[in-house]
Amino acid sequence: MPEDRPPVTLRGFRPSDVPFISAIVADALLEHYDPGLYPSLSAEWPDGFLVASDPDEVPVGFLLGVSQVDREARVLMFAVDRHHREIGIGNLLMSTFLDRSRARGFRRATLEVRVSNATAIRFYARYQYSVVDLLKGYYSDGENGYQMARSLP
Ligand SMILES: CC(C)(COP(=O)(O)OP(=O)(O)OC[C@H]1O[C@@H](n2cnc3c(N)ncnc32)[C@H](O)[C@@H]1OP(=O)(O)O)[C@@H](O)C(=O)NCCC(=O)NCCS
Repeated sequence: MPEDRPPVTLRGFRPSDVPFISAIVADALLEHYDPGLYPSLSAEWPDGFLVASDPDEVPVGFLLGVSQVDREARVLMFAVDRHHREIGIGNLLMSTFLDRSRARGFRRATLEVRVSNATAIRFYARYQYSVVDLLKGYYSDGENGYQMARSLP
């Protein structure tokens, strides 16, 4: 892992982030969501929605975590802008998210990933997530997904 901290600040989600986050999602995750989804998802666990912003306060990456199952955290969306990858922002977001999940008493973390997304699957394996299920036709374009999970000791 890079020793230097990446040049970003981690902060909570703000409604003004939506256009920037939507652009990252469209490019990185190939999905489009209603803009109202982000504020509503952040409401239940605001600390689970981490935004990495540049010195101008512009979001360059984010991790949106929710808890829909008792004592479980779920990574619903996670992406870094393509011009800001491989400088440690993903590591910062995931390690902070896992710390916050433990602090909240969650025992398990789960996520879904496209079966073709080798970069993300490798990234998650580094964080001790392993494949627990195959989700047939999970994505809107019909691609299969893996569900991955890890315990939070
Ligand atoms: C997965 C993703 C969030 C990682 O973010 P990132 O900011 O590039 O990650 P980091 O810079 O913190 O890198 C983390 C580790 O992964 C490695 N890594 C990241 N991208 C890599 C790549 N394309 N090839 C090889 N290694 C890579 C880094 O070298 C680093 O390793 P280290 O911890 O041993 O130093 C980013 O690639 C991304 O946004 N991808 C598109 C969206 C996506 O797939 N999201 C997940 C959907 S489920």
